Amino acid sequence: MKKKLSSIILSGILAIGILTGCGQTEDTVVVEEKDGYTVGVVMPNQTSERWINDGANMKLQLEELGYNVDLRYANDDIELQVSQIEEMVANQVDCLVIASIDSTALVEVEKKAQESQIPIIAYDRLLMDTDAVSYYASFDNRQVGHEIGEYIEKNMSLHTATEEGVSYTVELFMGSPDDNNAYYLYNGLMEVLKPYFDSGVLVCKSGKTSFEDTCILRWSQETAKERCAQYLDEFYTDEDLDICLSAFDGFAYGCIEALEEAGYTKSNWPVITGQDAELRATQNIINGKQTMTIYKDTRVLAKKCVTMVQAILEGTTPSINNNYEYHNNVKSVPSYLCKPEAVDKANYKKILIRGGYYTEKQLGE
Ligand code: BGC
Repeated sequence: MKKKLSSIILSGILAIGILTGCGQTEDTVVVEEKDGYTVGVVMPNQTSERWINDGANMKLQLEELGYNVDLRYANDDIELQVSQIEEMVANQVDCLVIASIDSTALVEVEKKAQESQIPIIAYDRLLMDTDAVSYYASFDNRQVGHEIGEYIEKNMSLHTATEEGVSYTVELFMGSPDDNNAYYLYNGLMEVLKPYFDSGVLVCKSGKTSFEDTCILRWSQETAKERCAQYLDEFYTDEDLDICLSAFDGFAYGCIEALEEAGYTKSNWPVITGQDAELRATQNIINGKQTMTIYKDTRVLAKKCVTMVQAILEGTTPSINNNYEYHNNVKSVPSYLCKPEAVDKANYKKILIRGGYYTEKQLGE
């Protein structure tokens, strides 16, 4: 592990200062200066609440360990993210944490980082097509899909639907094709729900059930809204849409707008799923507009990622709980996968409020 000469000198000066007590008052022993390490953290955007929280948690927790943090957001602009990382490499940061927009666009800049011996950790989204990535911290993305599928299966009693002669109409709103997580979620979801599509318990009137037909580039809320409006207009004039299988809280907001504009009311409001347990989504769960979401505690993810950074910088091995699931087309990336949890009206108080994620006040309670 490279260590900047300036930081070694600085640590030495501080150590001497501390030992001799010369000129040092207690609060001049700034932990931040201890190793002089700088961690570059890049996040995709600030339009989605979760990345704001992820960035803030990472910064806070890294600074608590005494590291300097260069945190950047790229406004979902791929070129901007490339240039942010290029700048960090040029500035010789000690470690890079990357939550990518389109990771295939980062292969070259990751190579530059590797040549400069700057280790890289993939944050939440796997960095594809590179051997420059050391570790991956994320949630179990397949499990996210399972949780959504199992929620629908259980709460709509799909097991017994065939014998009861019940079926439900459903449309899918899946994640961005440049985000590896989106495929895992779709596959996990279909592992649970495909049998119900096959048996006719779930009926997709648009006929669009493949990932390719239902993915939404860059997780765009507007596209989700447009698509939902179009489905309602084309396929649901005689029969209501019963389930919006949405892979993201942002898509749920888009679907809600489209449904309201199409005249849906409480009496025929569909089940709507989501992901991230954003504040607005949780408020919508309370007021009945969204049915459930997937809670991914960004504090926990940041903590895991920070332990990876620390291990890399201190030359130890971080704890990993999966070595095989995430292959990025070049290598299996050692991963720590945190556990996602389904949240709805019945358990949000216990999970989100008592878990300290939101206060009652934030949720207007
Ligand atoms: C994340 C999700 C998030 C989505 C859209 C995915 O990579 O895993 O938590 O909802 O991006 O921002």
